[in-house]
Amino acid sequence: RHRPVIAIDGPAGAGKSTLAAHLARRFGFLNLETGAMYRALALKAIENDLSFDEEAPLLDLAAYTRIALEPQAEGNRVLLDGQDVSRRVREADVTAAASKVSVHPRLRAWMVQQQQALGAGGGVVMEGRDIGTAVFPDAEVKIFLDAAPEVRGDRRYRQVTPSFQKFSGDYDESTTSAPDSQVSEQQRIKQEGIIRDMKERDERDRNRAESPLQAAVDAVILDSTTLSLDEVLARAEQIV
Ligand code: C5P
Repeated sequence: RHRPVIAIDGPAGAGKSTLAAHLARRFGFLNLETGAMYRALALKAIENDLSFDEEAPLLDLAAYTRIALEPQAEGNRVLLDGQDVSRRVREADVTAAASKVSVHPRLRAWMVQQQQALGAGGGVVMEGRDIGTAVFPDAEVKIFLDAAPEVRGDRRYRQVTPSFQKFSGDYDESTTSAPDSQVSEQQRIKQEGIIRDMKERDERDRNRAESPLQAAVDAVILDSTTLSLDEVLARAEQIV
């Protein structure tokens, strides 16, 4: 390839997407969020009423599925068979399903093959769980972005809350007029739920047999627990 591959891996809520978008802008690279591909296939599995636990039907489904990632200013637009599903794939049911479908080895191989093709020319920042270990083990830059679980849970909560509020507002008008104490109690419960789901996904990612979430031996580990966003970005630029 003519230009480098920057691989960014790490657990949920560590800030990978923000970092990847920043580096892509900074170096004029293409930003590819591989998690969105797992999410898109998971959405199609939901739409087709498939079990997330059986690999063969999921593979059959994948065989006639086209997933495309289109770079935007922030993150990717996700196209599933030509349809824009960018917002839908961020919802909780798809998030949980993506985590479950991604354990299957042959399904992962299908994804990895496409991701390798997307990054073959280099000049990409690719973000996921197995980029430095399985997709591009020869990536010129590998960053493993980590943070303490409480910090990640908090960041993930902030990230999903605006849409979450809008979502619940659509269904339950009382939430918009509820007194503060009640709202914060509701939010506390939501926050706990988000943190619980995130931990569950991480456990599954770390413990699966096929390319589990782990830092490549030659990855630079960047722990953002006590760093500000600007500090993380500056440190990552130095690494690149
Ligand atoms: O990064 P994101 O949260 O969008 O990923 C959704 C899910 O897809 C993750 O929980 C993980 O299980 C799976 N995934 C993966 N390998 C990747 C990217 C995502 O297994 N390279």
